[in-house]
Amino acid sequence: MDLILSDIHANLHALRVVLRYAKRRAIARYIFLGDLVGYGAQPNQVLDRIQELKPRFMVRGNHDRACAIENEDLSFSPPARTAALWTRERLTREHLRLLRELPTGLLSVDGDYEISHGSPIDEDAYLLTPREALRAFDTFSSDLCFFGHTHLPGAFELDQARGTLRWINLQAGEWFYLQPGCRYLINPGSVGQPRDRDPRLSFASYDVARRRVKLHRMPYDCNGAAKAIRAAGLHSHLADRLSHGI
Ligand SMILES: [Fe+2]
Repeated sequence: MDLILSDIHANLHALRVVLRYAKRRAIARYIFLGDLVGYGAQPNQVLDRIQELKPRFMVRGNHDRACAIENEDLSFSPPARTAALWTRERLTREHLRLLRELPTGLLSVDGDYEISHGSPIDEDAYLLTPREALRAFDTFSSDLCFFGHTHLPGAFELDQARGTLRWINLQAGEWFYLQPGCRYLINPGSVGQPRDRDPRLSFASYDVARRRVKLHRMPYDCNGAAKAIRAAGLHSHLADRLSHGI
């Protein structure tokens, strides 16, 4: 089983719950879709936990880039921009190097499927509409790509025989079987800052052999994460939004 994790955003409280879940299961590969840091108050602790897993497949998110690279043009909202600069000042040298060396998508996972942060060809581009998804399907060749960036879990399904494209709201806790003849762009949602008005953390597991995906939603101590953000002096909006899932 592969664990697909995206947009952790330095939220150690949320990541701990995911790792507790993973510890009781046989995880073949940990897959990270970017935005490991930014927004949250515990970037070094989160990166330490991720490094312990020795993951082979990670792509860079736009916040990873903004937090690690000086003179980066930060076209972020004021809270996000402040958080990126705050993070950059506190990251250890080793963690800065880790973020700077992250590859950009598109990245193949042992030829089984592909991963990206935003759109498969642009880590900054949001995949929200069918039109955007349709363009994205043209930019990769396999039949499955996991992506993040929007913090909204779900799947685009392109049925090549029928010529149809639909958005599927994956049901948490239920297996979703990939259909023959269809191609998929699947978003596992965000571990550290869900934005679908459900404050529970979100991630996915993927069973390569049986070609099935499961979305997981779990409660975590979002008040603790919010408290850490306030204590760090980061913008209160970043704390408040966690309990609302926005
Ligand atoms: Fe993000």
